[in-house]
Amino acid sequence: MSHPSTGETATLLPETKSSPAPSAPRADPLPPATPDAAHPALLPHPPEERGRADRGVGGEPVRLEFPLIWRRNFVWASLTGMLAAGLAMVVHFFFPRTLTEPPTRVKIGYPSDYGYGVDTRWQSKHRIWVVKNSTGLFVILARCTHLGCTPDWKESENKFKCPCHGSGFTTEGINFEGPAPQPLFRLGIELGADGQIVVDKLKEFPAKTWNDEAARAQIFLKV
Ligand code: FES
Repeated sequence: MSHPSTGETATLLPETKSSPAPSAPRADPLPPATPDAAHPALLPHPPEERGRADRGVGGEPVRLEFPLIWRRNFVWASLTGMLAAGLAMVVHFFFPRTLTEPPTRVKIGYPSDYGYGVDTRWQSKHRIWVVKNSTGLFVILARCTHLGCTPDWKESENKFKCPCHGSGFTTEGINFEGPAPQPLFRLGIELGADGQIVVDKLKEFPAKTWNDEAARAQIFLKV
């Protein structure tokens, strides 16, 4: 193509592609998030340091290890347990438990509840027998006078028989065989306000007292 004023012919040069402007150097990729010796805060804690409140780069807390939490919980649980035990001891000291003794005076029903002969209904509960005859009613303590075993009532033999060493007693409680040195004891009885028989288990009467007028009034009920 010629220039209109100079007539020079201009030579068209082939277009050259302009190279892109140099860009800023790219930053290196971030280091991998894996533990690295260059980042000690990311390294796993050695066993001797576990449980410590470590701090990472810049003093930021990293994390709490589970063992430390467990240890704190254990300490709190121990303290709570000790406080509870101490409180229980104080309460026990100021409010001691009362022992519940079995009653020594027991009601065993009305005289009409018993027929003639030996009644063993209270043997297990109160360790007594109720004996009724044509003249009255009395209560025998079911304790052998040899060494304290509980004899059995043998209805077919009409006697009390001790299973330990063979002592035998009549329906009156009189010893007649075996090593028992004396008759069975009788217990104090009386009629309550409601008409029921009341047995006083603390009043024991050996045979030598049975003929005493005062004692007889306490061990025999006329029916
Ligand atoms: S205890 Fe009853 S005979 Fe020995």
